[in-house]
Amino acid sequence: MCGIVGYIGKRDVAPLLLEGLQRLEYRGYDSAGIAVTSPKATGLKTVKAKGRVRDLEAKVPARFKGTTGIAHTRWATHGAPSDENAHPHLSQDGKVAVVHNGIIDNASELRAKLTADGVEFLSETDTEVLTHLVARSQANTLEEKVREALRHIEGTYGIAVLHADFNDRIVVARNGSPVVLGIGEKEMFVASDVAALVSHTRQVVTLDDGEMATIKADDYRTYTTEGSRTTASPTTVEWEAESYDMGGHDTYMHKEIFEQPDAVDRVLRGRIDDRFSTVHLGGLNLDAHDARKVRRVKILGCGTSYHAGMIGAQMIEELARIPADAEPASEFRYRNPVVDPDTLYIAVSQSGETYDVLAAVQELKRKGARVLGVVNVVGSAIAREADAGVYVHAGPEVCVVSTKCFTNTTVAFGLLALHLGRIRDLSVSDGKRIIEGLRKLPGQISEVLKQEDEIKKIAKQYADARSMLFIGRVRGYPVAREASLKLKEVSYIHAEAYPASELKHGPLALIEPALPTVAIVPNDDLLEKNRAALEEIKARSGKILAVAHQEQEKADQTIVVPKNENELDPILMGIPLQLLAYHTALALGRDIDKPRNLAKSVTVE
Ligand code: F6R
Repeated sequence: MCGIVGYIGKRDVAPLLLEGLQRLEYRGYDSAGIAVTSPKATGLKTVKAKGRVRDLEAKVPARFKGTTGIAHTRWATHGAPSDENAHPHLSQDGKVAVVHNGIIDNASELRAKLTADGVEFLSETDTEVLTHLVARSQANTLEEKVREALRHIEGTYGIAVLHADFNDRIVVARNGSPVVLGIGEKEMFVASDVAALVSHTRQVVTLDDGEMATIKADDYRTYTTEGSRTTASPTTVEWEAESYDMGGHDTYMHKEIFEQPDAVDRVLRGRIDDRFSTVHLGGLNLDAHDARKVRRVKILGCGTSYHAGMIGAQMIEELARIPADAEPASEFRYRNPVVDPDTLYIAVSQSGETYDVLAAVQELKRKGARVLGVVNVVGSAIAREADAGVYVHAGPEVCVVSTKCFTNTTVAFGLLALHLGRIRDLSVSDGKRIIEGLRKLPGQISEVLKQEDEIKKIAKQYADARSMLFIGRVRGYPVAREASLKLKEVSYIHAEAYPASELKHGPLALIEPALPTVAIVPNDDLLEKNRAALEEIKARSGKILAVAHQEQEKADQTIVVPKNENELDPILMGIPLQLLAYHTALALGRDIDKPRNLAKSVTVE
């Protein structure tokens, strides 16, 4: 949420920062701003604009020169999107500029104190207090000024600070919101995400919470907010710069849906052990002895990751026969849960940054629990906080709406369930059966994707629906939930998911021709029961789209997907519904990669 980017070196900084902001726009896109200076300059130049990065770019004058700068793309928390509320925030004398990602909890209190001292605020944001605190500090160095300001702050931040009197450096700090340094040749970068850096350098240093850094053109230093030096050696980013491009597709969502066969291949690669019909998960750090002691599994995540966790819980329960369930991390951490030493907790997150998940992990660890991470972004906060984990290797996901990462996470859960199962009671032949099923997935996903033209036609028919119902039972229910989330977030059509078994207990009252139902109907032990639900809907003149392994007589249309093993079917059944959401949104002219009001990486509560 909110993206920050900074550069110090010899190059013309504005184009570099604007390019970086474009790459970070998925983190927030309601306003943007930029501040630049250079070693010989006496002050800072700033431009801010409500709207997208392209709106900022249009406002940046041709002669906006500098070799040092910071920039920001915003997702509003305090104060509506506007030019004034856009970052960077400047001090009254115009010498200090701050960009911030996170939330300052005690901002109102600090604002009241500063106002009483005569400070005039120009925005409604929480960040502006920080700018004034830095500017008012009497300390001699920029590092000390920032440190002093941060002592007053309660909340989360990833910040970058520029000061006209110290224009050979940028000072950055992190507490709860990511900050990554990019180490170049006589130039340095800073950003909230490597996406903004990888086309310039793949050598990065990720700051820890409570850490600060000073970056100069040819040097960087890291230290704690108390001032003690820390040692941070650069690591190499695994993902190529090209993987952040659209690669010939019109949207990232389309690209990411079509990357799924390769992405699934990647999550499986090198992990299958045919000899023992199991898998090797290098980062798991859970030996057979520990695995046998697990009495429950609790999976925590938000949004799409929570839905992937629901599928994961079912796989673990079915294959490893360990009671397992998933819960939204945001709810879990507020209900004072009983933390049980025999429970294995699993935190799921694409970004590895989601604040609610991170906070749940921290709370669990404080209570002595063992927490695994199932995470996409290598080295992210949740990956680092967890005791061990499984990377899902989906590659960078840029569209705000998650697709390939959902699929890869469910496959990663399939691997984990198989691993736990083979340590416990899953037979060799069942292990083999699941491995064969996993291996079939990339090809079967490609088969589903070939139906795009058909799905596009169906989507056009549904684009004028005001609301849609998604139903499924047991394995189909998380698929229905995820498909309903996909449709609503990208098309803005209201959608609701319900267990098909619950229809009679209320939602049947909604059924009428104007409310289409999407039904997940796998060929498993519940097939007849699912068909009975279709009958009930049809009897009330409801329109039905089925996703099934064979044509469904009661459905108006059926999207047929290839059959896999029962346990793995949910992985495939959601894929046509990603395309349905995509093409419905396209028919409605929605901003597919950046749906309104949303941002990827929800780093605030
Ligand atoms: C929906 C979507 C969100 C995220 C959620 C958690 O398409 O992307 O619901 O799944 O915000 O994000 P991560 O997985 O990064 O923790």
